[in-house]
Amino acid sequence: MTTPHSDALVFFGATGDLAYKKIFPALQAMIRRGHLEMPVIGIASSRWSLEQFVDRARASLNDHGGLDAGAFAKLCGRLRYIHGDYRDKTTFAKLREILGNVEHPLHYLAIPGSLFSEVADGLANSGCARNARVVVEKPFGRDLVSARELNATLHRFFPEDAIFRIDHYLGKESVQNLIYFRCANPFLEAAWSNAHIESVQITMAENFGVAGRGKFYEEVGAIRDVVQNHMLQVVACLTMELPAAPEHEALRDERGRLLQSMRTLDPAEVVRGQFRGYRQEAGVAPDSHVETYAQLRLHIDSPRWNGVPFYVRSGKCLPVTATEILVRFKRLSPLAIDDPGTRLSNYYRFRLSPEVVIALGTKVKRPGEQMVGERIELVARHQSADDIGPYERLLGDAAAGDATLFAREDSVEAAWRVVDPVLGNKTTVLSYAPGTWGPSEVNRRVVPPDGWHDPDS
Ligand code: BG6
Repeated sequence: MTTPHSDALVFFGATGDLAYKKIFPALQAMIRRGHLEMPVIGIASSRWSLEQFVDRARASLNDHGGLDAGAFAKLCGRLRYIHGDYRDKTTFAKLREILGNVEHPLHYLAIPGSLFSEVADGLANSGCARNARVVVEKPFGRDLVSARELNATLHRFFPEDAIFRIDHYLGKESVQNLIYFRCANPFLEAAWSNAHIESVQITMAENFGVAGRGKFYEEVGAIRDVVQNHMLQVVACLTMELPAAPEHEALRDERGRLLQSMRTLDPAEVVRGQFRGYRQEAGVAPDSHVETYAQLRLHIDSPRWNGVPFYVRSGKCLPVTATEILVRFKRLSPLAIDDPGTRLSNYYRFRLSPEVVIALGTKVKRPGEQMVGERIELVARHQSADDIGPYERLLGDAAAGDATLFAREDSVEAAWRVVDPVLGNKTTVLSYAPGTWGPSEVNRRVVPPDGWHDPDS
């Protein structure tokens, strides 16, 4: 049976930050590629006219990526706007009326999780949930218990195969590339285990602070904001067993299985930091203990990965903005001596952003009498940043009913199980100066063998 394509996109939270920064640019990009033929209905509580809504879309595009006059004109032709309260039946009655003959609407809930229940209820009671799909944004819950409750709430109205949970990292070109690289290169698979790999480290660094999102950030902190979702999903893509079948669910099965085999975090293997100045941000408590930096060691209990430590660090106000994975191989023979300062063995370096790089760190002998080597990087693949942006890719996939790049219920819950023991203020938060690689303590605790590799800007 072929999956029907969605025939209308309805997005809740249409006047919000996410719509402004990500959704309008993704819609314009879809139009340019000829991938958006359906009406787009924005819903929010602001009492705006359609003209005001169009003005908002225009401003969003001017600020985020640029306006393409032709594509924007087409987008405007598809836009509708409904203002209303999500608790009010008439809001959904209006939606039902505007949907008219639409049979498979795609509802995008770009709103806080606390409102999912009301909106899903309104959609169901008005008949708008019939044959529909629903896309939900992160954060998906605050911990394992609330994620389970949220899943149960959504399942009252939508079957699991109609729920698309966004983790935009899974929609990134670089993460796609990582999976492709693993699946397409058998030589890699032979070495991809504890027999050859010594350790893995992932750095997700941002050289800016909370950028006006202090109130939101106070509710989450780095572990909830990016570790539970983006970082753990990246570890899963890097380490999962390769899917044996091409079907959508095969990839999600493997990611889910891997996350199930991840050990829950030990507070002794976590360092939390907060940049100096964070407490002065609007919306932040003057005595806040929320972390803007987290560094941790993960373990995967599987025959393939037993004994390989996975180090993850992520923070705001670090020296650069870049996300990189470094997979270090064990050393082979003491005959090959390193240059002082280059004790590195072979490694793979996957740069996930801002640009996509896959590099293999090798060592070759320096010409001369001694068996002394130097490090050479073979850049296996190098291209400019995302062509298709993650939101464009994910919205297109959801409309086509392809859930491969979305987080399924089991993997979201498994990821919460991993971080649950270290959420909140269970460990001390240490302060660090903006523009540095986190609190000085991080150089003494939870450090990879041979130290952290700091990505370049
Ligand atoms: C978001 C987080 O999910 O991911 C932000 O809420 C973070 O705090 C962002 O800055 C990073 O995403 P990207 O695609 O810019 O690397």
